[in-house]
Amino acid sequence: MSLISGFEQIVRTGEPLAMHTWFQLGGPAEYYAEPESLDELTALVRRCHEESVPVRLLGQGSNILVRDEGVPGMVIHLSSPAFCGIRIDGRTITAGGGALLGRAVTTAVHRGLAGLETLVGIPGTVGGALHGNAGTHGANIGQWTIQATVLTASGEVCQRSNDELAFGYRQSRLDDLAILDARCELEEDDPRQLSQRMQKQWIVRKASQPMGHQAAGCVFKNPRGQSAGELIDKAGLKGTRIGGAAVSDRHANFIVAEPECTSQDVLRLIELVRGQVRDRMGVELELELEIW
Ligand code: EPU
Repeated sequence: MSLISGFEQIVRTGEPLAMHTWFQLGGPAEYYAEPESLDELTALVRRCHEESVPVRLLGQGSNILVRDEGVPGMVIHLSSPAFCGIRIDGRTITAGGGALLGRAVTTAVHRGLAGLETLVGIPGTVGGALHGNAGTHGANIGQWTIQATVLTASGEVCQRSNDELAFGYRQSRLDDLAILDARCELEEDDPRQLSQRMQKQWIVRKASQPMGHQAAGCVFKNPRGQSAGELIDKAGLKGTRIGGAAVSDRHANFIVAEPECTSQDVLRLIELVRGQVRDRMGVELELELEIW
């Protein structure tokens, strides 16, 4: 039996991943699937597990760089409505792992629920946000999350409580294969004031980050008590280029890709920045961007 027999409707081979990522770079996935239901997802994950095929979960592709040679194994994208629902019940919002974080944020705000509004403008899915505990200076998604439903690599559905998830700065203990949904408990507030707060955050973000360019989110994590962007800027690296990749002039912790850029250009620029910040500023930067 081949890996995809019985899954011909949802599995594609050699799917170009560039069009699924914000960088718009990188090679194909050996196998790529968009399951339409939890049953289909579970069956596919179990098959991959039995056949020892590695599986990766793709969110909105805003925090990954796919290598030019592509990705072996299965890439699963939870884009079907079955994984993207958003429900509000009292002060609790439950959002599917494939739902856009931005939609969860605005839904909460419009219903007068406070907490997530500072996350406005952060790209990606709810699952991706939880996996990396996405946040800003003011807040992160983990602090509002009371529970997550996950799918393990062997195809079991489990609940994880906030304690188990152990959220930290841009990290969680959520290393299960897929995040199916997240439940956040929020605080009641005036929807108009909340909307104004959200708009203010949006304006600040738009002014300080290269949104709308061919770029992902921040490339490096902030070292404790410092800003990676400020360190890269102070090292004089804004505008530094390798091939079609350049350190953003607007915010130095972003790399923007020109149309002729390759993933290799971005990888070489990352190493150059890391080396220069080490030599000139004495700080070792850690990647926030995931390299596939
Ligand atoms: N700065 C510079 N030069 C730059 C960039 C920043 O001097 O090129 C200075 C700023 O002037 C400011 C300080 O560095 O004094 C901090 O900058 P900013 O407010 O932009 O915040 P950040 O620490 O660089 C963090 C998150 C962002 C998040 C913003 C806003 C990380 C790695 N970055 O950036 O998150 O949007 O705060 O809250 O934690 C992400 O994680 O992908 C991301 C973009």
